[in-house]
Amino acid sequence: MTAQQNESNHAALRADAQRVLRWNDRRDFTTPSPYQYPHQWNWDAACIALGWSYFDVARARTEIRALLRAQWRSGMAPHIIYHHGASDYFPPPEFWQTQGLAHGGTVLASGLTQPPVLATIVRRMHERLAQEPEQENFLREIFPKILAWHRWLHTARDADGTGLPCLIHPWESGTDNSPRWLAVLDQLTPYDVPAYTRRDMTHVHPDERPRAEDYERFVFLIDRGRRVQWDDARIMHAHPFLVQDVLFCSILHQANQDLLFLGNAIGADTGEIQAWIEKTRAFFNARFWDAERGLYLDYDVRAGAAIPVNTCATFAPLYAGLAASTQVTRLMREHYDNPNEYAPDEKSGYRVPSTAKNEPDYAPRRYWCGPVWMMTNWLMVRGLKRYRLHSHAAELLASSLALMETRGLREYYDPRDGTGLGGKEFAWTAGLALDFIAMDAE
Ligand code: SER
Repeated sequence: MTAQQNESNHAALRADAQRVLRWNDRRDFTTPSPYQYPHQWNWDAACIALGWSYFDVARARTEIRALLRAQWRSGMAPHIIYHHGASDYFPPPEFWQTQGLAHGGTVLASGLTQPPVLATIVRRMHERLAQEPEQENFLREIFPKILAWHRWLHTARDADGTGLPCLIHPWESGTDNSPRWLAVLDQLTPYDVPAYTRRDMTHVHPDERPRAEDYERFVFLIDRGRRVQWDDARIMHAHPFLVQDVLFCSILHQANQDLLFLGNAIGADTGEIQAWIEKTRAFFNARFWDAERGLYLDYDVRAGAAIPVNTCATFAPLYAGLAASTQVTRLMREHYDNPNEYAPDEKSGYRVPSTAKNEPDYAPRRYWCGPVWMMTNWLMVRGLKRYRLHSHAAELLASSLALMETRGLREYYDPRDGTGLGGKEFAWTAGLALDFIAMDAE
C-alpha cells in the first residue's frame, strides 16, 4: 500500500470513529453500543475518553468525570453506571441492590469493578495536553480518586498479602466468558439463583455471546455478592469465585506506573504508589509464570492452583514491563509466533485470537473464547513496542487498522477471516481506532 492510500484509509477511519463516538454520545456519558450496552462501562469509558481527546478534549474530561462520579466511598469504581436509570439491559440497576450501602456510591451502579486502565489513558492524553490551560486542574481533581481506587484494589481485594487484587466475578476481568474462567465456573453448582431474563441476545446472535450455563453462574455470583451487601471482607472470606488475573494485574501495574508519573507532575505524595509497584514486581512472576509451559497463567485463589488455560492474557505482562527478556523470548517463540496458538495459519488469518486456537474451548465467534478484540490488540502493540519487538508491533498495528478499516468498528472480529461480530458502531473500538492511527504516526 502506498503512503497516500494509507493516509486516505486513516482519514476515512478517523471520520468513522468520530461519527461512532457522536452516535453513542448521551451528553454526560457515551454508550459502548446504543442497543446492546445502553449505559456507561468502566474500561470502555477510559478508551472512549481517549478517542474523544483527539477531537474534543472537554468531552473527554466529561466522560472521565462521569465514570468517577459513581465511585464508592470505599474507593471502588463500578463497572456499569446507570446514569439515566433503567433500560432494557439486563441486569437492571435495582438487581444489584447497591443503593444505600454505607460504603457505596450515590449514582446507580453495579457492585463490581473492571480493569483499571484509566490512569494509563489519562497519561496518554496528558502527553498531548500538558500545556493545555485546564489540564493541571483536571489532574488535581481526578488524581486522588484514581489513587483511592487503586488503594482499594490493593487492600480490600488482597486475599493473601501479595497485594495482587482478587476478582469476584468474570465480568470484573472484562473478558467475561474467557475459557480461563469457564474452568473455574464449571466447579460451581449454582443454587437459589434469582429469576432473570437475558437481554443480550436481542441484538447479537446467540453463537457470539456467552452460553446459558455461563450466564447462570454470572447471575449466581451477583446474587452471592448482594446477599452480603457487597461487603469486601465477607466477600474475600467466603465468596465462591476468587481469582487473580494476569491481564487485570498487568493493567493495574501499568496504571500505577502512569499514576506515579501523573502524581509527580502535580507534586503529589506518591510513596504509596511506589510501594504497590515494588510489591507487584516482587510477587507477580512467582504467582503467574509457568516455567514448564513458558506461559503466564491466571490463579484460582479458592483452589490454590494455577488455571491451566492459554489465553491472550499471557502477553499482558509485556505491556506492563513485568516480563524478563528470557520470558519474552519464550512467549514469542513458543506461543505468539506459533501457528497452532496465536500466529496466522491457512485457516485463520488475523492476530491476536483472544484464546489460543488449540485450546478445547476455543470458539472463533463466541465473545472472549476466540475473537480478536481491539482492546487486547492495543495492549499488545504497546507491549511489543516496549520490548523493542518493532516488526511484530508494526505488523499487529497494521492488521488491527486494516480490520477496522475494512470491517467497520465492531465489538470483536473472527480471527479466521476478519468478519465483524457482536455489537455494531462500537464506541471503545472507535476510541481505540483514533489512538491506533496516532500510534501509526509515532
Ligand atoms: N460485558 C457484560 C455484558 O455482556 C457486562 O459487563 O453484559
